[in-house]
Amino acid sequence: MSGMRPTGKLHLGHLHGALSNWIALQNHGDYDCYYFVADWHALTSDYAATGEIRANTIDMVIDWLAAGLDPEKSTLFVQSAVKEHAELFLLLCMITPLAWLERNPTYKEMKEELSQKDLSTFGFLGYPVLQAADIIMYKAYGVPVGVDQLPHVELTREIARRFNFLYREIFPIPEPLLAEVPKLLGLDGRKMSKSLDNSILISDQGEALQKKVAAMFTDPQRQRKSDPGRPELCNVHTFHKLYSPSETVVEVAAACREAAIGCTECKRRLAAAVAEGMRPIHERREYYLGHPEAIRGIIEDGNRWAEQIARATLAEVREALKINHGL
Ligand code: TRP
Ligand code: SF4
Repeated sequence: MSGMRPTGKLHLGHLHGALSNWIALQNHGDYDCYYFVADWHALTSDYAATGEIRANTIDMVIDWLAAGLDPEKSTLFVQSAVKEHAELFLLLCMITPLAWLERNPTYKEMKEELSQKDLSTFGFLGYPVLQAADIIMYKAYGVPVGVDQLPHVELTREIARRFNFLYREIFPIPEPLLAEVPKLLGLDGRKMSKSLDNSILISDQGEALQKKVAAMFTDPQRQRKSDPGRPELCNVHTFHKLYSPSETVVEVAAACREAAIGCTECKRRLAAAVAEGMRPIHERREYYLGHPEAIRGIIEDGNRWAEQIARATLAEVREALKINHGL
């Protein structure tokens, strides 16, 4: 089980970080995978500007499908369509000590980072409780996430343990599933991030893609073509390792060290390799862009299936709390 807030179109950092792990788990064959759009979580920081959440949800699901998430193998759904998440959140709120939330490092960091928004809300403090509800609802054993989410998964484990202790042993204690992720930087050498406007998007193709690759920072010590370069310090090289055949990677790196290839040529080859590697993803994207009804159908089916599981869990939870009067 894992989720993402609907931030719109995804970039290659998402693809090689979270998504590739999600797809590997899906294709492993032995796991039941649930992946969802955390649109209520988006409200915790964007409650004052909700206008883009719906379009962002669709854009993100299109990128998921394009990347290879398969609705035949994984349940893809939207959090706000499964109201049981709200009920379980409410019940977990009752048993979660305030101190656990106040000492959450992500809470403190985010509040500072997003200081232009007023995040002194109950909802923002409770973010990890909602996340705990998302996860344990499906009795998840594994949560594929990035390191930034580890404190949230740890809190989920504590909340699940507390529930099991107070009422009944209903929930497995979930493990975070970290994947080895290549460190992809943005065009400007900082962390690739939507807000920094330095990303290569999954949807970037053709000239747009070429232009972005051409704008990438390289080895800062290589000013002229005659200066030998250090591919191991160059973000372009990191991308070559992901997208180019290994002979090309070796050849280009050697040529760079001897100043036998210029950065323009190196990037031209990279742009071609990325375009080629991304082709199946771009083709699937085109297909879904032309078939919005298919996307709607996939989400509706996913919502329905998730809701069945969630209803069954809530029935157990209400029974454990003895709060199912008359049912
Ligand atoms: N907090 C996660 C993020 O910002 C999104 C999320 C919400 C999530 N609920 C989750 C991730 C449950 C994993 C499991 O990316
Ligand atoms: Fe980077 Fe390629 Fe330029 Fe070497 S030739 S510095 S690897 S872009």
